[in-house]
Amino acid sequence: MAHRVTLIPGDGIGPEVTSAAVRILDASGAKLEWDKQEAGAGAYEKYGEHIPKALIESIECTGVGLKGPVTTPIGGGFSSINVALRKRFELYANFRPIQNLPGLPTRYPGVDLIIIRENTEGLYSGIEHEVVPGVVESLKIITEKASTRIARFAFEFARRYGRKKIHAIHKANIMKLSDGLFLRCSRNISKEYPEITYGEHIVDNTCMQLVMHPYQYDMLLLENLYGDIISDLCAAFVGGLGLVPGANFGDGCAIFEAVHGSAPDIAGRDIANPTAILLSGVLMLRHLGENEAADRVQAAIDRVYRSRTTLTRDVGGTASTSQFAEAVIEAMQEATAPVEAERV
Ligand code: NAI
Repeated sequence: MAHRVTLIPGDGIGPEVTSAAVRILDASGAKLEWDKQEAGAGAYEKYGEHIPKALIESIECTGVGLKGPVTTPIGGGFSSINVALRKRFELYANFRPIQNLPGLPTRYPGVDLIIIRENTEGLYSGIEHEVVPGVVESLKIITEKASTRIARFAFEFARRYGRKKIHAIHKANIMKLSDGLFLRCSRNISKEYPEITYGEHIVDNTCMQLVMHPYQYDMLLLENLYGDIISDLCAAFVGGLGLVPGANFGDGCAIFEAVHGSAPDIAGRDIANPTAILLSGVLMLRHLGENEAADRVQAAIDRVYRSRTTLTRDVGGTASTSQFAEAVIEAMQEATAPVEAERV
C-alpha cells in the first residue's frame, strides 16, 4: 500500500527543490502518494488563508509531510507559517543532523553532529506588544513540560542510536529563570541516562567553541531561538544551507523540511541545491519504514557527490537543480541495473 504524504512545495526556491526531490523519491522504489497543498502568501491570495483548512486536514489525515520553505515577511505582515504548523501539530522536536557528504571538501571534514531544538516555545511564541510608543516587549516562554519533553527526546535518541554526549546550550547566567528552567529540566532527565555524558555550555561560548573545534560536540540540545541560529552556523561546516536536512517530530505526526529558507535571491532560476530537501526526504523514507529506498537514494546522492561532475553552484559546480536531480536518478538506476541484468 502506498504511503500518503502531504507535499507543501512552499515558495521561493521551494517548488524547484521539492519537485526535484519528489522526482527522485518517486524513482526510489518507495510507494508514495503525494497530496499537494499550498501555504503562505500564494495560498492567501487564492483561499484567503495562509494555512488553508485543506492543508490542515491533509496533515491530520496523512500524519506525514514533506515541506519546502515558506517566506515570512520581515518586521511586519503575517506570522511564520513554519512556526504555526509546528505549534498546530505539536511538532515539538526539531531534528537536524549535520554530516559531511562524501567527496565534498569543506572547512571541516568528518563532522557528525546532531542538533535537537525545542520547536514550540521560547521567543518564538510570538507574544509581542508595544508597551508605550518606542518600547516593545517580547515574551520568552519556557515551560517545564516542553523542556522536559525535548530533553527526553534528545536522550532517547542518543540511547537508541548510540550517541555518546549531549550538551545543553543556554544563557542561564543572564536569563536565570527561563534558561535556568530549561537547564534544570535537561539536567534532571540526564540523570536517567548515565551512559550518556551530559554537559552544559553558554550559547555565546558555544559559537566560538563550534568554530574552533566542532568535533568536541556530539549532540546539542537547545531551546528554540538558539537552535535556529546554531543550525545555520553548523550548516556551514559541511558546505552550507543547501545540504542540511531536518525533521519536525510530534507524537503521531512528522513534517520533514530543509534547514534553509526560501532563498529569494536565487529563486526561479533552477540553480538551488535540492540536496537538503532530498535528504529530508530520506529521513522521511526511514520514518515510513522504507529503509531500502532510503539507502538507495542516499547511496545515489553519495555517488553524485563523489564523482563531482553534476553539482550545483553553491558547492562549486555548474549544474542546475534539475540536472542534479537527473544525475541522482541516473546514479540510482545504474546501481540497480546489474542486479536486474542478472535476473534477466
Ligand atoms: P535562506 O536560507 O533562504 O538563504 C540564506 C542564503 O543561503 C542565501 O544566500 C540563499 O541563496 C542560500 N541558500 C539557501 N538555500 C539554498 C539552497 N538550497 N541552495 C543554494 N543556496 C541556498 O535564508 P534567508 O534569506 O534569511 O530567508 C529567506 C526567507 O526564508 C525568509 O522569509 C525566512 O523567513 C524564510 N525561512 C523559511 C524557513 C522555512 O520555511 N523552514 C526557514 C528559514 C527561513
